[in-house]
Amino acid sequence: MKKIIAPSLLSADLAFLYRDIEMINESEADWYHIDIMDSSFVSNISFGSLFTKYVKKYANKPMDVHLMILHPERYIKEFKAAGADHLHIHYEACIHLNKTIFSIKEYGMKVGVAINPHTPVYLLQDLIQEIDFVLLMSVNPGFSGQKFIKQTYQKLEDTKDLILKKDSSALIEVDGGINLENASLLFKNGADILVVGTTIFSNYNPKKIIHRMKNNI
Ligand code: DX5
Ligand code: ZN
Repeated sequence: MKKIIAPSLLSADLAFLYRDIEMINESEADWYHIDIMDSSFVSNISFGSLFTKYVKKYANKPMDVHLMILHPERYIKEFKAAGADHLHIHYEACIHLNKTIFSIKEYGMKVGVAINPHTPVYLLQDLIQEIDFVLLMSVNPGFSGQKFIKQTYQKLEDTKDLILKKDSSALIEVDGGINLENASLLFKNGADILVVGTTIFSNYNPKKIIHRMKNNI
């Protein structure tokens, strides 16, 4: 278990973006998580590759980019150019998922497949050996600040079983509604990476929250 923390910039104060980037640079956080939304796959619109490019300019940690968009294959090259290190695509948004996974790898990025709360883990059985991350959505994607869906604990178990059964090296990432309490349970139950927005950025001492999450205190 890796215990990686990836703050989600969706909850940052965008008027003070550079300040928040510097905070993450100086903190114990491991990655930047960037949520891209298209108003079709999810009902919200957030950032694009231009935003990603400017964060990359100042960030000193890997860029974990979560595409909540339909037909993400259209944008692989663009996000590589913008500085993405990891690209997550949604199972529900891809018709030719296998092809898209290989295309992301050909561009030299790590690849994750995200699943919505309603999507069962067994659907990943024919691709889990090909991917670097399984991204379990613990809220319905589209907005930060939502309530954690408890069914995620069962999905975590199912994902661990599938990884073991298929001898996969995929890491498990959980995204949405994470606070200090469920963070420690999720790490204890085998999550490798936690994406955290509101709990970090709504606190007056975000570095301390990151420290506490990483150290289970
Ligand atoms: C939801 C996004 C999440 C979100 C997390 O669609 O994928 O990354 O920003 O924010 P919190 O931690 O507030 O749920
Ligand atoms: Zn996300």
